[in-house]
Amino acid sequence: MAWTREQRYRNYSNYSTTLIDNLEKQAATSQYKPKFHISPKSGLLNDPNGFSFFNGQWHVFYQAFPFGPVHGLKSWVHCVSNDLVHWQNLGIALPAGGRYDSHGAYSGSAQVIDDQLFLMYTGNVRTQDWQRESFQNGAWMDKDNHITKLMEPLIKQPAYVTDHFRDPQLLKINNEYYALIGAQDKETLKGEISLFQSNDLKNWHDQGYVKHNLHDLGFMVECPNLVDVDGKKVLIFCPQGLPQDELKTTNIYPNVYAIADYFDFEQNYFEAENGEMVQLDEGFDVYASQAFNAPDGNAYLISWIGLPEIAYPTDKENWAHCLSMVKQLKIVDGQLYQQPVAAMSKLRDYEQELPQKQRVLVEKAGQQYELRLTLGADQIGNLLLASDGTTEHALQLKFNTIDGKLTVDRSNVGEKFGIEFGEQHQIRLDPNTPVMLDIFVDHSVCEIFVNDGQKVLTLRYFADNSHTTIAFSDENITDYTGQYFKLNDM
Ligand code: FRU
Repeated sequence: MAWTREQRYRNYSNYSTTLIDNLEKQAATSQYKPKFHISPKSGLLNDPNGFSFFNGQWHVFYQAFPFGPVHGLKSWVHCVSNDLVHWQNLGIALPAGGRYDSHGAYSGSAQVIDDQLFLMYTGNVRTQDWQRESFQNGAWMDKDNHITKLMEPLIKQPAYVTDHFRDPQLLKINNEYYALIGAQDKETLKGEISLFQSNDLKNWHDQGYVKHNLHDLGFMVECPNLVDVDGKKVLIFCPQGLPQDELKTTNIYPNVYAIADYFDFEQNYFEAENGEMVQLDEGFDVYASQAFNAPDGNAYLISWIGLPEIAYPTDKENWAHCLSMVKQLKIVDGQLYQQPVAAMSKLRDYEQELPQKQRVLVEKAGQQYELRLTLGADQIGNLLLASDGTTEHALQLKFNTIDGKLTVDRSNVGEKFGIEFGEQHQIRLDPNTPVMLDIFVDHSVCEIFVNDGQKVLTLRYFADNSHTTIAFSDENITDYTGQYFKLNDM
């Protein structure tokens, strides 16, 4: 169904509760619904927001349009957890509809300030003639998870940026506050990251664009995040419209990171190592990731598994997308590593060593599992996930550890989508070296961690749930070890 602008942006109170009940029932019965990933009860989910630790709990919000699988009037839905694995959905916490967020409470972040959580987010406003105005707004959340919006915006759109000015990351550094904001320059129509400074969260001072040594930030930047990881500063962001040769990805829009020794807030300068930005995830569907430094000393990341402007098969079931598992960030040998948080092992129900010298590894693996597999240094083959028992219909992981190549191929698994953006992605690893895979499958979500998080490939696939076999495509794979774990719902 084609959604009109009026339907997308009408006040939530104009929708009936019966509609929501029906949408929730429909989504709950979908065979594609993830069971240990945060997914919407109904409608569309996109960016993670306000990822934080506050009042003894982990918090994450997500961008939500609860009435259908489309981008419409967005609000923040609130989820809480005690362990970063089991999440409870508390429903809409930051609705849109005020003077400064009339057309959407867009993405933003959170900082604990004294005994409250401060939320900084973009208010999306459309004028009568549908011109966009972007405001950076604030709200306080108290210990009862009650949110009060500030009456006035913190930051208004500067004259030199277009209306693409959004997704503030609020940072607290010593006694000062900074906000990094994704932007597009009005004159050059190029992507930029704006920096603002404040001493009191009320008066904000424009520090101009972040100066950097990166080559190109496309036509617009979304969701910038600066995070401390093992003594380095890691800048994570989404540059839209990068030339194809800038990054080796065919995804519609990338999510990237760059590493630096420091961020010079005085000079407003970020000097990336080798002037380089790197794909954060080598799969098909990661976008708008949000990271933060937690009080336990770790840096955590969570991503939207979904991309803008692509239709997904669950659209016809009136819901769309999910969040990734929480990943812990590390720097190992100068590279950013992303690992599943240790508490993920709490989901393990049943464990089985993989049989040796067998083509079929697990015949009835189900749709919720973790597969750990180490392949020897001279193995060439094809690992089939979600296979219907044949070698033709499966999510394929083609490996060649001699040449150091790993390719994920979703061209033969279930319903097709986004094919114009490629169906195969290949990564390069050290040649003649064993490869360790830690693979999480959750109905229609697959997160593949390679060599302890050195690379991550995240993707959706939509195969019938009767496709449940894990196998190699031929009998020649002899040098491997591993375990299969059935996983519980979160
Ligand atoms: C990224 C994004 C953000 C914006 C939000 C709106 O996916 O476009 O830039 O704040 O989604 O939902």
